[in-house]
Amino acid sequence: DGFTARQLFGQGTSYTYDDVILHPGPIDFGAHEVSLETEVAKGIKLRTPLVSSPMDTVTEANMAIAMAEVGGLGFVHYNLSVDEQVSFVRAVKNHPVGSATDVNVVDASATFSILAASGRSYAVVTDDGRLGGRYLGVAHASDGKQLSASAKLVDHLAKVSAKKSRDDAHAAIKADEKLEAVPIVSDDGNLLGAETREYLLLRETLPDAGAPSVDAGGRLLCGAAVGTRESDKDRIKALVAAGVDVVILDSSQGDSAFQKSMVLHIRASHPNVKVIGGNIVTRRQAYHLTHIDDGKGGTVSVDGLRVGMGSGSICTTQEVCAVGRGQATAVYHVSSYARSLGVPVIADGGVQNSGHVVKALSLGASCVMCGSMFAGSTEAPGAYVTDPATGVRVKKYRGMGSLEAMQKGSDVRYHSDKNHLKVAQGVAGTVKDKGSVRKMVPYVAHAARQGFQDLGVASLAAARTELDEGCLRMECRSGAAQAEGGVHDMHSFTKVLFG
Ligand code: XMP
Repeated sequence: DGFTARQLFGQGTSYTYDDVILHPGPIDFGAHEVSLETEVAKGIKLRTPLVSSPMDTVTEANMAIAMAEVGGLGFVHYNLSVDEQVSFVRAVKNHPVGSATDVNVVDASATFSILAASGRSYAVVTDDGRLGGRYLGVAHASDGKQLSASAKLVDHLAKVSAKKSRDDAHAAIKADEKLEAVPIVSDDGNLLGAETREYLLLRETLPDAGAPSVDAGGRLLCGAAVGTRESDKDRIKALVAAGVDVVILDSSQGDSAFQKSMVLHIRASHPNVKVIGGNIVTRRQAYHLTHIDDGKGGTVSVDGLRVGMGSGSICTTQEVCAVGRGQATAVYHVSSYARSLGVPVIADGGVQNSGHVVKALSLGASCVMCGSMFAGSTEAPGAYVTDPATGVRVKKYRGMGSLEAMQKGSDVRYHSDKNHLKVAQGVAGTVKDKGSVRKMVPYVAHAARQGFQDLGVASLAAARTELDEGCLRMECRSGAAQAEGGVHDMHSFTKVLFG
């Protein structure tokens, strides 16, 4: 009944996630018992197999902190100066674990009108309006009701005493049901973060929200993207000094002499940092990045592979260059080869829902990288704007190969040539407000656990065995079957994803 992955993906057709449907297996465990524990690169363990893409509208410090706090990982993009990227990595590595960054911080000149416009019930006031600034107090929107909109928050601060640790802040919120946020400050009075009632409740309902990815010293894990130019060697040195755990060599076509020589450089100069190569879509490319001639009669391998070419929501690589592969096919073939060498694989791009996460993981990926799913969240860089045509709150999301991003420098990802002609391989646009990834990721992970339960496998390791032994059965869906698998024949409906 059905086909094995080897049969389905060995027929000369490129399939993507929506083309494929998995067959259910027998269940004898609860969804909460499913372990999604994995590795993003050799030796770097994650509890949640989700990572955020190194794109300038997706991952800076706030995203990387939030992703690590919910058990995943963020890769800070490199379409910025070395100093800026290093400051983001430092912010992640020095972040007190568990003290939310999704805090409404304003400066000492802020008024109640600014608080009302933020849509939040409180604001934490510091001298410069930033985390790390001198803590002045907390103002509540409700306290401003009798005051004029231009009244300064700093003149009407509530008596909330800041705490030195998350545990103390936690206890203060539990003890007083009116407290929405309790600031956490350093010994010298600077704002480190805050415990919020919303985040506390979330952690109590969803265990993933409180299981951070940390290094051996208990600091949050952080990844960063780099290029393969000579100047990137200085960038890597600075990132390693800032404590980065894993670097990703960011290229749309990773099977290059530039990438191999950068892997050799990293191995020789920074043996403790992990390196992920890519992007690739074939076994041959995977072989090249895992058997790099070291010039001394031996070979060197990357610690992880990133798979996807043209599958991303903002990508036009397949249209512009005619090269790439359907993402399900690419993930299956690269992962089955990489698994024989013990090299983890990141399935990058094209993920639109938790079902795609289940498919990527059960076809062999170790974790899933998302751009558009996390863009538009509170933690993504950039400000929300209201689309005048629809009234919907949106944030910018753009491909790193869009002209806009390349004009800022990201064209190195596309091996730009000496003619300095920029040909776009991506688009720029907007995505809807998604709320916080601190909430979204635990729900997506839980939905993925339910998917694994339906498959009858209680861990990623068990899923690998089913895949390799041909017990995981699947087939390709016709267009009509895909339509049947979505919502149909409704006059109107609302799609609420989690709650
Ligand atoms: P999603 O579907 O999650 O995809 O939005 C994110 C991934 O897309 C890749 N990426 C690009 N690919 N042109 C491309 O062909 C681009 O401009 C571009 N920008 C990002 C990248 O692998 C990312 O993780």
